[in-house]
Amino acid sequence: MVSSSHPRVGVLEWGVKGVAGFRTDVNGKDWQALRERALTLDASDPLRSMRDRFYLPQGIYLDGNSLGLLSVDAEQAVLGVLETWKHSGIDGWSSEPDPWFSMAESCAKGVATLIGAKPSEVAVTGSTTSNLHHLLATLHKPRAGKRRVLIDALNFPTDVYAIKAHVANQGGDPERDLVWVDSRDGHLSIDDLLTQMRDDVGLAFFSSVLYQSGQRLPIAPIAARARSQGILLGVDLSHSIGAMPHALHDDQVDFAVWCHYKYLSAGPGAVAGLFIHERHHAVPPAFPGWWGSDKTRQFDMAPSFARAKGAGAFQQGTPHMLSLAGLAGVLPLFLDIGIDRIREKSLALTDLLMEGLEQLGALYPELQIGTPRAAEARGGHVALLHPHADRIAKALKEHGVTPDFRPPNIVRLAPVALYTQFADLVTTLEVLDRILRERLYEAHDAGRNVIA
Ligand SMILES: Cc1ncc(COP(=O)(O)O)c(C=O)c1O
Repeated sequence: MVSSSHPRVGVLEWGVKGVAGFRTDVNGKDWQALRERALTLDASDPLRSMRDRFYLPQGIYLDGNSLGLLSVDAEQAVLGVLETWKHSGIDGWSSEPDPWFSMAESCAKGVATLIGAKPSEVAVTGSTTSNLHHLLATLHKPRAGKRRVLIDALNFPTDVYAIKAHVANQGGDPERDLVWVDSRDGHLSIDDLLTQMRDDVGLAFFSSVLYQSGQRLPIAPIAARARSQGILLGVDLSHSIGAMPHALHDDQVDFAVWCHYKYLSAGPGAVAGLFIHERHHAVPPAFPGWWGSDKTRQFDMAPSFARAKGAGAFQQGTPHMLSLAGLAGVLPLFLDIGIDRIREKSLALTDLLMEGLEQLGALYPELQIGTPRAAEARGGHVALLHPHADRIAKALKEHGVTPDFRPPNIVRLAPVALYTQFADLVTTLEVLDRILRERLYEAHDAGRNVIA
């Protein structure tokens, strides 16, 4: 377990009305019983000291599935790179104890533990989008009779753009070759999805957790079906990595991509990650670069590419050290706690939140929960559905709770096991109760902010 001896970091001022000054007792529902339970859960929470390692903005932050907060650990690692650069210049690449030259490899090893992969199957490099382009171009060569590509309309847009471009680059026609799994109310039916993995499908690509509804897809049966049908399966882990365990190697997923800036808190635009199952390691990367070299030979400067064994070969250019350092700093927190305990707390948080939202739903019928209730079918965030979701998100923010809004009608609330308290969720429910009861959202314009 990580020591909790680090002093409490303190609270940043964001200039919004803090929740502390918010009156929640005017003709409202009585949240006392839920609050008492939350306080008991907080008092016995084995992860409670972790919160002291994070910079917590004023109010309640429930947007860790868009951008995770800064920890002291990540900050120190980024500052450490700057210090080394300041004092050692080029020697930073080799200076112990954390030579920049091997930082991506050490991060890959840690990330592999979080996602149930072998270290040789993971590379920390690029962005989610660029890694997806790279792996598609490397692994997917459409064949006669297997040209169809199965995706779902609930995939994150950048994935859809990359897949469509890949199909077109391979001489296909996205309009003709893409098969969309039906979705209803933001959810996929797993039966429909499995049924649609038919003989003419050559590639299937899904998110492990859907970014809007928070539905978690069961990767093991999907991967088993893909194997039996000869379908290449790719998965986007952006909304699950750092919030729950995975078993990519054992499930025999072919490839995966993800970012590190959400639950993993590696920093805005942090270097991303990719997984390629070891059974594909003989395939050379489609877009090689010198940073994918066998590390003992990289500086031979030979014209022929002696690639690293495994996923490391998919690195291309010099790592963005300032965007990598945050990951190197924060990863030990996750590894020391263990991803199973993180998932356990995450589920307890979303359980409490959903219980309270169900109570609110009984008072305000327009409010619905868009996330599956069963623990195994949900990720780390909870989606609220409401016709005025855009205005409610703005009202929450005005009153000190930071959610996000996704069109057309979703407010996402993402408690993060390392820094969200159970009591924060009860306060959020109280604030939401009052916003709905007094229609405070009507003070806000409809529509999203440019960056929501
Ligand atoms: C599921 C998913 N994939 C990809 C991305 C973004 O890709 P990139 O990291 O390349 O910006 C996001 C961003 O929120 C996402 O939620």
